[in-house]
Amino acid sequence: RFDGRESVWLFGYGSLIFKADFPYLERRPAAIEGWVRRFWQGSHDHRGTLESPGRVVTLIEQPGATCRGMAYRISPDVFDHLDVREKNGYLRFTTPLYFENGEQAEGLVYIATPDNTAFLGPAHERDIARQIAGAHGPSGPNDEYLLRLAEALRELADDDAHVFGIERYLQHPE
Ligand code: BEZ
Repeated sequence: RFDGRESVWLFGYGSLIFKADFPYLERRPAAIEGWVRRFWQGSHDHRGTLESPGRVVTLIEQPGATCRGMAYRISPDVFDHLDVREKNGYLRFTTPLYFENGEQAEGLVYIATPDNTAFLGPAHERDIARQIAGAHGPSGPNDEYLLRLAEALRELADDDAHVFGIERYLQHPE
């Protein structure tokens, strides 16, 4: 629960980039420093099943890196009722958000850390693509998540070699 009384910025780097199913006051492309996006979090409840878990992105610390995403300014009321998965071992932190016009704000970021039970960690991008191709969950097919994320990142001009590499393997399986 968020105890502040002002609106808060929430930084999305995964499905939040292309899908926000909550009301927001503002939506702006933004970037954070020191983090990279990786398909290292397992998904057995959204984009996969227990028998065939999918993979979704989380953020991994990497000094000097920039991660582009979408920032949402939301009211404290909405924030209180948001399901941002604090329960599944998601960690929340505050970091500067850099907007395209040079403005800055403090924003909240949620990441899945290696100590959560669904965390899968690194694998070859070819194997990640294969796992994604075979996974489907209540939120839809895992490949739809990957393709929509890649499309959204192209719009944000994020040169994400990891995501685009996995997308290439998905489209040209060996
Ligand atoms: C995101 O897509 O940015 C996101 C997903 C789960 C928790 C927090 C953020």
